[in-house]
Amino acid sequence: MADHGPESVLRFERVVVTFDENPVLRDISFNMRRGETRIILGAAGSGKTVLLKTALGLIRPDSGRVWVFEEDSSDFSEHQWMKLRRRMGMLFQESALFDSLTIEENVAYPLLNQGAPPPPGEVRSRVEEILTFVELEHTLEKFPSELSGGMRRRVGIARAIVTDPPLILYDSPTAGLDPITANTIMELVAKERDTKSATTAIVTHRFQDGELMAKFSYNPGSGKLEPVLRNGTDPVNTVFMVLKEGELVFEGTQAELEQSRDPYVSKFVKH
Ligand SMILES: Nc1ncnc2c1ncn2[C@@H]1O[C@H](COP(=O)(O)OP(=O)(O)O)[C@@H](O)[C@H]1O
Ligand SMILES: [Mg+2]
Repeated sequence: MADHGPESVLRFERVVVTFDENPVLRDISFNMRRGETRIILGAAGSGKTVLLKTALGLIRPDSGRVWVFEEDSSDFSEHQWMKLRRRMGMLFQESALFDSLTIEENVAYPLLNQGAPPPPGEVRSRVEEILTFVELEHTLEKFPSELSGGMRRRVGIARAIVTDPPLILYDSPTAGLDPITANTIMELVAKERDTKSATTAIVTHRFQDGELMAKFSYNPGSGKLEPVLRNGTDPVNTVFMVLKEGELVFEGTQAELEQSRDPYVSKFVKH
C-alpha cells in the first residue's frame, strides 16, 4: 500500500511483554511519525514505563516487533541497540541522575558514550550550552543532591537532549513536582520540540501536560509559549494514547479523548 505520510520513527506491531507470566504489555500496536507529539496516559502500573523501555531496547518483547527509524529491531544485538539509542533521548522517571557525578559530568555522559566522543573542549561548551537552555548554567560543579527536585528534572532533560536526538522519550517529567515547577518543565519540553523539531513522546498522568503540548508552541522570537492558532487541524500533530493494564484502550486526538464515553479513558480528561 502506498504510504505518503512522514517517515515512521517508532512503530510497535503487536508487542507483548510478560514478566513472570504476567502480561504487562498486551498486543500493543501504534505508529509514531516524525514531527509528532505523543502523550501516553495511564494509571500507575498500566505499563507506561515498560513501553518506553521497550522502545529503547532495554526490555525485549516476548512477541511482536519494534521498529525504530524504520528499522526492525527484532534481531538487533546489544551493540546495534547502543548505536540506535544515540538517536533517542530519554528522561527516566525521577530523572535517574548519577549521584556521585557532578551536573557537568551527568550531562556530558551521553556525549562521552557516543561512538566517537567530541574533543574535551567541545564537550564542555556543549554541556554549558545545553545547561543554559534549561537555565541551569550556574550548576556545573554541583552534585544532584544539592539541587531541588525541579532542578534535577531539568538536568535530566539536559542529559536527554544534549546529543540533539531526533526522537525524545520523557517518562513522567512532571511527576512529584508542584504545579508551577511542572509547568516550567513542560515549557522546556515544548521549547526543545519546537526549536529542534524533535519528535516527542511523553508519559504523564497529567492531562494538562498533553493539553499544553497540543495547544501551545514555542516562539523563539518572543522566547515564550504561544497558543497555536488553527482551523480544525492540529499543526503540532499531537496524538494521545491511554494504557489500561497493559492494553492500549485509546488512541486519537485531544478532541476525541475529550469525547470518550469510556469511564477509564475519560478519567484522564480534566473538565
Ligand atoms: N522488571 C520488572 N519485573 C517484573 N515486573 C515488572 C518490571 N517492570 C515493571 N513490572 C510490572 O509491570 C507493570 C507495569 O509497570 P510500569 O510500566 O512501570 O507501570 P507505569 O505505567 O506506572 O509506568 C507493573 O505491574 C509492574 O509491577
Ligand atoms: Mg512508570
